[in-house]
Order: sequence, then C-alpha cells, then structure tokens
Amino acid sequence: MLGAMAVSSDSDDGFRIKIDDRPYRVVIQRSDGVDDIAFAGWELRDAAALDQAAAQLEKAGFAVEQSTETQLRARGVRGLVRTIDPSGLSSELFWGPIHDHERFISPTGVSGFVTGDMGLGHIVLGTPNLGDAIDFYTGVLGFRVSDYMRNGDGDVVFLHCNPRHHSLALVGAPELTLYHFMLEARTLDDVGYVLDRLLSDGVSISRSLGKHTNDHMVSFYSQTPSGFDLEFGCGGRRVDDSTWSVSEITKASSWGHHPPVAT
Ligand SMILES: [Fe+2]
Repeated sequence: MLGAMAVSSDSDDGFRIKIDDRPYRVVIQRSDGVDDIAFAGWELRDAAALDQAAAQLEKAGFAVEQSTETQLRARGVRGLVRTIDPSGLSSELFWGPIHDHERFISPTGVSGFVTGDMGLGHIVLGTPNLGDAIDFYTGVLGFRVSDYMRNGDGDVVFLHCNPRHHSLALVGAPELTLYHFMLEARTLDDVGYVLDRLLSDGVSISRSLGKHTNDHMVSFYSQTPSGFDLEFGCGGRRVDDSTWSVSEITKASSWGHHPPVAT
C-alpha cells in the first residue's frame, strides 16, 4: 500500500523493505517481546569516522560492541558497531553500505522516496531519560538541535544529522516507545494516492493530511499493524547549518493533522 518493495534476503533476520537504491532501508523482525522499534542505524562517512565515533562512545562511558563478519554480512555494510543509547535503544553506527545496484521500482507506482543525503526519514522516540538522550545524540554523536516544542513540563526536541530537518525527535515518556516513523515521497500525488489506497482498504488514519510548522512536511499519519504510526509525507525542508538558528515552535502543524472525527 505504501509503494515500497519487499525484498528477500539470504539472512533470516527479517522481512526487508526497499525504498531507494539501497538493498533495503527497513527490517521487520518477528518478536516475542514488545512490538516496537528494535534498533536504529546511523550512517557515518567512512571507517575512520566510525573508529572516532566508537572512541567517543567509550570515552563517554558507553559499551561498544564490534560486529562479526556474519553480522556485517547480515546488515550489508563494511563496518558496524552497536551501543545502547540512554533510552535503551540499540543504536547501530555503520559505514560502507554494500550496494546491489538493483533499481527501486514501486509496485504501486510511487514515483520515489526522498533519501540520499537526507537519510531514510525520521523516527520520533519517547524516552525515559530525555536529558541523557539529548546529551548522547548531540554531545557524543554530534547531532544538532533543529528546534524545540514544549510538551507539559518537558520538551519535544527535534534533532538533525544531515540536511533533513529532523532524523530523530525525542520526547519524555515512561519507557522507550516509537511514536512514529516517517517516510518522505517525492510528490504530493504520491502522498494522495497512498492515502486513497489506505482509505479504500480500511486502514485507520490517525491524523488527517496536514502541514508541519517546523519541517514543512505535508503528511498524514496511519496506524501500522504494530500499533505505532507511520507518517507519510512530501515536501520536507532542508536545514543549512551555516544559517540555521534554533527556535521554539508552539504548534506542530500549520493546518490539518486532525484526529479522526468521531462517528
Ligand atoms: Fe514526524
């Protein structure tokens, strides 16, 4: 329904989803535990950058697990280390994705997804350790704050590590929770056709079409079978670190993003 490709893999670690020229971007694994995010991957430039990041993690007191050849082959990357972030999320830092040079051809005619130097999309995580999580992503891994939005006594903090306005947003929560992940299609027509397909299939739409104030994404939200939401949008803005200044937003959306109307 989303127009992504399902791909098979040699490894048995899950069902893989391809949305661009990478062999895959998302893995869905069967779990006996919680139905939630299992890990997040963050790409670094090269082996030297990964070594430097691993050293910074260890200096900051985070255990760093190196990967075996089998693990590297399973992920399809040249180098990868794992650590557990302050929220309890398994965070995989990697470099050197191994390409298969297969084209992305959407089975339902989505024209394409915006990735490249903007990465996969974004995730919004609830964390029981918001302050530590912010320090980890900004102080250790080098993310930058894009903006803040007040949320009760705390903040929602939007963070970027490439020109995408946010690849990660953090909000205080009793436990680690994936609130939603976002995929960005190339055009408004892609978003509209996907929305129509979901509606005609009876999939629940959690938030109507709307436009976010901070990243300018025109999107809707739909509940996945795992319970967390998928945000599907287009038109996200790019952040230029040489001119960007941090602000606080007071509304998430300029228009739309309404909850379902009770019937
Ligand atoms: Fe979002």
